[in-house]
Amino acid sequence: MIKFKKIINKKNKSKIICLTAYSKNFASEIDKHADIVLVGDSLGSVLYNYSTTRKVTLNEMINHSKSVRLGVKKSLMVVDMPFKSYDTNTLALNNAKKIIKETKCDAVKLEGGKKIIKQIKFLIKNKIPVMGHLGLLPQTTKGKFKSKGKTQKEKRQLLNDAMLLQNAGVFSIVLECVQTSTAKEITKNLDIPTIGIGSSIHCDGQVLVTDDLLGLNETKIKFVKKFLNLKKYINIGLKKYASDVRSKKYPSKKYSY
Ligand code: KIV
Repeated sequence: MIKFKKIINKKNKSKIICLTAYSKNFASEIDKHADIVLVGDSLGSVLYNYSTTRKVTLNEMINHSKSVRLGVKKSLMVVDMPFKSYDTNTLALNNAKKIIKETKCDAVKLEGGKKIIKQIKFLIKNKIPVMGHLGLLPQTTKGKFKSKGKTQKEKRQLLNDAMLLQNAGVFSIVLECVQTSTAKEITKNLDIPTIGIGSSIHCDGQVLVTDDLLGLNETKIKFVKKFLNLKKYINIGLKKYASDVRSKKYPSKKYSY
């Protein structure tokens, strides 16, 4: 509970850093810089080239999360519940319990507002900590991804959904691709923090797919800033290894029994 309080208390004080991780070695580095490590179902497109996150299975989420758990020591660890894994109250609770039991994560994230509020309330009533996700919802969006909250109607809907989630007891809400003034208003109106992705500077925190910001995943998404060309550094190391093997410099005596 202290971990959740720490996140909530950051609202209006300091920005919350959230990053995705899909495996141990990345997770242990990310853990040094993040408040929240998210095992996102974005792993479907990033690691498996799935055309949609709908194809991600519960087992895939659990296996990657088990690896991430080995690297996360201090941050709050959140795992995405995959598509179709929370269609009813019972399904949601059984799957959330399975995720938490097998991965030892701290919380689960579900996409949606009013449409899934029954399941969210049921999870929270059963002591499952939940992170919300509003705006662009990759699991239910068909076709082109568009920003949300541009019209007054959408803005009102998002505000209502955010209040519903807060009243249900979620500890924070991811806002994906939400128009700047809408994200600002939602953030101002809530007591819990918003974590933005493509939703402006006004959110209480930010999340990005780590592979995107490190330049490992080629993407043209508007909100993604490439903070490093990690591919370049990986290639320097791999090229050196291949060259040393070909020239018989490696393994020298030092590296041989
Ligand atoms: O799946 C994911 O990685 C996410 C974040 C991008 C918010 O849901």
